[in-house]
Amino acid sequence: MKRVNRTSNFQITVELTNDNFIASPNPAHRARLVTTRLGELAQELDTLDRTVSNYVHGGSFAKIYDRSQSHIAAQDIMEDWQTPIMAEMARSVSAGSGDVLEIGFGRGVAADFVQSHTPKSHTLIECNGAVIEDFFHPWRSQYDGRDIKLVEGFWEDTLDSLPLFDGILFHTYPLTEDEYVERVQRSVTFAAHFFEHAAKHLNSGGRFTYLTMEEDSLSRAHQRALLEHFAEFHVSKINDLEIPEDTRDAHWGNSMVMVTAIGR
Ligand SMILES: C[S@@+](CC[C@H](N)C(=O)[O-])C[C@H]1O[C@@H](n2cnc3c(N)ncnc32)[C@H](O)[C@@H]1O
Repeated sequence: MKRVNRTSNFQITVELTNDNFIASPNPAHRARLVTTRLGELAQELDTLDRTVSNYVHGGSFAKIYDRSQSHIAAQDIMEDWQTPIMAEMARSVSAGSGDVLEIGFGRGVAADFVQSHTPKSHTLIECNGAVIEDFFHPWRSQYDGRDIKLVEGFWEDTLDSLPLFDGILFHTYPLTEDEYVERVQRSVTFAAHFFEHAAKHLNSGGRFTYLTMEEDSLSRAHQRALLEHFAEFHVSKINDLEIPEDTRDAHWGNSMVMVTAIGR
C-alpha cells in the first residue's frame, strides 16, 4: 500500500512493504489509519514552518563536559528566561501544600517559588557538591525554621531511601554527553527516563511536574509514555518567554510546555 501527502512545500510518501504490518482485520481500516498519520505528519511540518519564524538564533552548542561535580556559573545552571516556568512548576507541585520533593536544586530559583507556597516539607536532591556549596547553603540560611532537607547525591542512588511525596518537581539536566544522547536525543522527552520513578514515589493523587522542549502540545509518543505510568496529566503552555538571541540552551522558541502528571 502506498500513500502520498503532497503540498507546494513537501511531499511525504509512505509505502508499506509488508502485508502483515498494521494488518487490521478490515483492510479499509489500515488505509485510513495510515492516511490519518500521514496527515498528522504533514500538519506537524506546517506547524514547524510557522513556529521557527519566532526562534532566536542561539549561541554555539558546546559539547557537554562532565558537570556532575564542577563549579558552574549561575546562567550555565539555568538561564534567567526559565524563571517564569519555575514559578509555574512550583505552583503546580505545591497544590495541596503537602510534602514536596525537588530534584535538581541548581540556583534555587524554583526552590524559592516552592517555599513561597509554604509546603509542609521540602526535600531536595542535588548531586553537585559545588552547587551545594555555592548556591544551596546561602539559600538555606534564609529559611530558618522551615522543614527543608537536602539529600546529597544522584537521585538514581538516593530516591529509593525516601518516602512518598505529594508533589515532585523534576528539573535536572544531562550530566554527560552519554546522558545527552540517551535521555535527550533518543527519548520522547528528557524527563521520560524518570517517569517510572516519579510514579513509584508519588502518593495517590500526587502531582509530578516537569518541562518539555515541545512548544505548544505533546507528541503522541510522549503522551503514551505518560499514560503508561500515570492516571492522567495536565498540559500548560507557557508563553512570552524572553529567550536571548545568544542563548546557550537547546530551546529557541518563545513558548514551552509544562506537564503535571497525577499519581494513580
Ligand atoms: C537545570 S538545574 C536546576 C535549576 C533549578 N530548577 C533552579 O531553579 O535553579 C539542574 C540541577 O540538577 C542537578 N542534577 C543533574 N542530574 C542530577 C541527578 N542525576 N541527581 C541529582 N541532581 C542532578 C544539577 O547538578 C543541577 O544543579
